[in-house]
Amino acid sequence: MMMKHNTPHLILGIESSCDETGLALYHQTQGLIAHALHSQIALHATYGGVVPELASRDHIHRLIPLTEQVLSQAGVGLNDVTGVAYTAGPGLVGALLTGAGFARSLAFARGIPAIGVHHMEGHLLSPLLEAPELSFPFMALLVSGGHTQIIRVNAIGDYQLLGDTLDDAIGEAFDKTAKLMGLGYPGGPIVSKLALQGDAQRYKLPRPMTDRAGLDFSFSGLKTAVLNTWQQAQIERTNELEQAKADICASFELAVCDVLLIKLKRALQQEKLNTLVVAGGVSANQRIRSSLTQLMTSRAGHAFFPRPEFCTDNGAMIAFAGYQRIKAGEHSSLDFSARARWSLSEMKAI
Ligand code: KG4
Ligand code: ZN
Repeated sequence: MMMKHNTPHLILGIESSCDETGLALYHQTQGLIAHALHSQIALHATYGGVVPELASRDHIHRLIPLTEQVLSQAGVGLNDVTGVAYTAGPGLVGALLTGAGFARSLAFARGIPAIGVHHMEGHLLSPLLEAPELSFPFMALLVSGGHTQIIRVNAIGDYQLLGDTLDDAIGEAFDKTAKLMGLGYPGGPIVSKLALQGDAQRYKLPRPMTDRAGLDFSFSGLKTAVLNTWQQAQIERTNELEQAKADICASFELAVCDVLLIKLKRALQQEKLNTLVVAGGVSANQRIRSSLTQLMTSRAGHAFFPRPEFCTDNGAMIAFAGYQRIKAGEHSSLDFSARARWSLSEMKAI
């Protein structure tokens, strides 16, 4: 590698695992110095979900302009970049390959290291971008469109999976709840906005798996209960459907919060931990943020969340996670490009 001794690391981070193209620059001493994001939400909205082929094509269009954008934002040139971090999985394989191909060509041309980052490790470490006081070990709740996991984090890369969903992820449950009431995509932001005008006590929805021991989740029953409630509301209350929608959204959000509270109390007690990190797209949810903050305050502990714009997919978290691994001397071998499936527990501690 051509890096001079003592040159501080400057890592270009690239996220392209799903429907956001995210680029960022993380500097060893100055921290995050630039980030830019292009969301494809409008592109996929008419289809009610992400169309993989369209996602890949759009990433290709965005990667170079967004790279130019972060370089000019930071006032640096490509020659100043010392390493490239890209999301290598899990995610849509075609979308991942666009970022991986771009990142590795760039690193190859410049003779600098490239590192394939685990997308969920990016989410998991994102609160550290702004909370350097956060220390190991801690409990993590990862909640996104594809994941709902409780993890004991002993160090970067030392992850112990304590609980997982047996079916739908929480983000998926938000998305399906929105879809079945015809509210649009993605469901999380829409459901949480509508819930603000709703009565969370109106509909009694189930809290799946909370009456059983253990830390696993299940959300498909909650989704079915939402569907039944919505169908019933349509039969009974044709004049008040807008209010019924808001009340279902609020009742759904409350059920999700209750489930998370019950499971996290158990996990914290079991592992004797008093620090909680919540990350992933669903951690942008205000009701979840405030109920988990309250939980940790009541235990004289502390809850950490990424800032809202870094809850959903972004390049900053990839630049940061990649920086940690490149700083530790790691880089990906030439045969490593992208993996659609990849468990966090396969990661190596640094
Ligand atoms: O982390 P993310 O951007 O992508 C994945 O890695 O999956 O998470 C996207 C998920 C979607 O399911 C979306 O509906 C959900 O996060 N989400 C939310 C909110 N904002 C995004 N869910 C609940 N409340 C929100 N405010
Ligand atoms: Zn994500």
